[in-house]
Amino acid sequence: MTDHDVLIVGSGAAGLTAALVLAERLKVLVLAKGALDAGSTAWAQGGIAAVLDQGDTFEDHIRDTMVAGGGLNRRETVEFVVEHAPEAIGRLAALGVPFNEEAGALHLTREGGHSHRRIVHVDDATGFAVQEALLKAAHAHPNITLRPHSVAIDLVTDRHRADGGDDGAAGRRVWGVYALDATTGRVECHVARSTILATGGAGRTYLFSTAPRGATGDGIAMAWRAGARVSNMEFMQFHPTCLYNLEVKNLLITEAVRGEGGHLLLPTTGERFMPRFDVRAELAPRDIVARAIDHEIKRLGLDYVHLDISHKDPEFVRAHFPNIHERLLALGIDMTRQPIPVVPAQHYTCGGVLVDLAGRTDLPGLYAVGECSESGLHGANRLASNSLLECFVFGDASARDILALWDDFPPPPPIRPWDESRVGSSDEEVVIKQNWTELRRFMWNYVGIVRTNKRLERAAHRITLLKNEVHEYYSHFRVTADLIELRNLLQTADLIVKSARARRESRGLHFNQDYPATHPAARDTILVP
Ligand code: FAD
Ligand code: SIN
Repeated sequence: MTDHDVLIVGSGAAGLTAALVLAERLKVLVLAKGALDAGSTAWAQGGIAAVLDQGDTFEDHIRDTMVAGGGLNRRETVEFVVEHAPEAIGRLAALGVPFNEEAGALHLTREGGHSHRRIVHVDDATGFAVQEALLKAAHAHPNITLRPHSVAIDLVTDRHRADGGDDGAAGRRVWGVYALDATTGRVECHVARSTILATGGAGRTYLFSTAPRGATGDGIAMAWRAGARVSNMEFMQFHPTCLYNLEVKNLLITEAVRGEGGHLLLPTTGERFMPRFDVRAELAPRDIVARAIDHEIKRLGLDYVHLDISHKDPEFVRAHFPNIHERLLALGIDMTRQPIPVVPAQHYTCGGVLVDLAGRTDLPGLYAVGECSESGLHGANRLASNSLLECFVFGDASARDILALWDDFPPPPPIRPWDESRVGSSDEEVVIKQNWTELRRFMWNYVGIVRTNKRLERAAHRITLLKNEVHEYYSHFRVTADLIELRNLLQTADLIVKSARARRESRGLHFNQDYPATHPAARDTILVP
């Protein structure tokens, strides 16, 4: 049993931002289920959106965010995040993030859906620089303990109290997590007065995703099981340009390639097809570009389309995209001279644990920030480079809320240790592998870019079968990291399909051929446990 003031599950942009603020006064434990830099944050390429250009305005950034979001965004959240963006960039620069500059000012690149140059970046590997700076500061802080290879299994709530009592909130207050120490195989109980979920997205619910392997929706599933509402899970974002390569399945080709002049072409005729779909052509919001590519691939029976920036000066291309250029060269593609084969792939989870402007969930003591949360910022489709920004703004806001309310938070009661007296070790690991593959394949085929009622119904049916199988497995065998993730993936897939079936219209990222129209009034899909 460990006991800290605040427990943070997740060491990406959201978790570490909160940790650094809380550590001013409190003792903080940060868990990560693998290496500390193995989340999506370190993989982010394009950058962070902020109004910093002369001629750009908060109002323009707010409008672009809401246009991309299909009108489903909560305006007060959008204002809150957009208005705090320049300050967040300032804090990162102070931590030593070496943002690119040009003529003495920050260099701003451009991405789809943005009406101005607005993206602050570190070459084409912004997330790596951000993760490095945050981790360096966290390692150096005496009030922060970092625990990699600790896989949170479930939230500890009043139901797990050893004294059988509750504080009047009837099983709802959260006191930390049970987590598997992946190095020893033992389950530990980490107790805290307040817990922040910063566990990232659920991209790995899909066969093809740009997200790292650990994006299995753990925080969303844990919060749901503990009784928190989850919203807008049908809005899964597919990035239009993931490298098509049979060996390397998740190399993102940043949207900034299109922002800096790259064109999407049909490999058969060389036609630049995006102008047929949208006046903004390659710089239309992602849902539109991904659907257009999907349409052309299916119409012409293609494996991929081409992304071409070879008409630009090779020096310019190399200077703007040094990492991608190098990684592609290693695969035999010289982007300064030839087009890149690309396909859409799952990229971002817009829905998540429903939170307010301080990151508070429905459960007392529990906060959720970053990609695992649904704050109202993204609506039906996230605007490019708004997500790292959300992590910084909400990481900071949740930490400040905890500091402000600290004296009202009761100290943790005694908690029951994890009980594995009635389970044994599995001799059938193949069940996990089989179910994992099956789930990701049917989610890709039935709950992907274009949906129908029939496909969603098929997916729901399969989820029920797999859930029963995995539940039985979970009840009989000792937990492993793979089993924990599979259980969460299934839970998340269930929430995605339930939300998609509940939405009887097409909006933003959710396109259902049986309901192609958009309702005049935008409504969130809020699932109540
Ligand atoms: P993450 O950075 O994903 O961190 C999650 C953390 O939670 C990890 O430490 C993980 O170990 C931990 N965790 C998860 N489950 C458990 C568990 N059960 N127990 C213990 N720990 C757990 N956004 C932008 O704004 N700009 C970009 O340019 C951009 N580019 C991107 C490029 C790629 C390839 C990808 C995949 C995403 C990109 N995004 C971008 C999105 C952005 O990177 C993410 O939304 C953001 O980094 C999420 O940060 P986070 O802190 O919420 O989660
Ligand atoms: C990209 O660089 O294209 C990703 C940006 C984002 O996901 O916000």
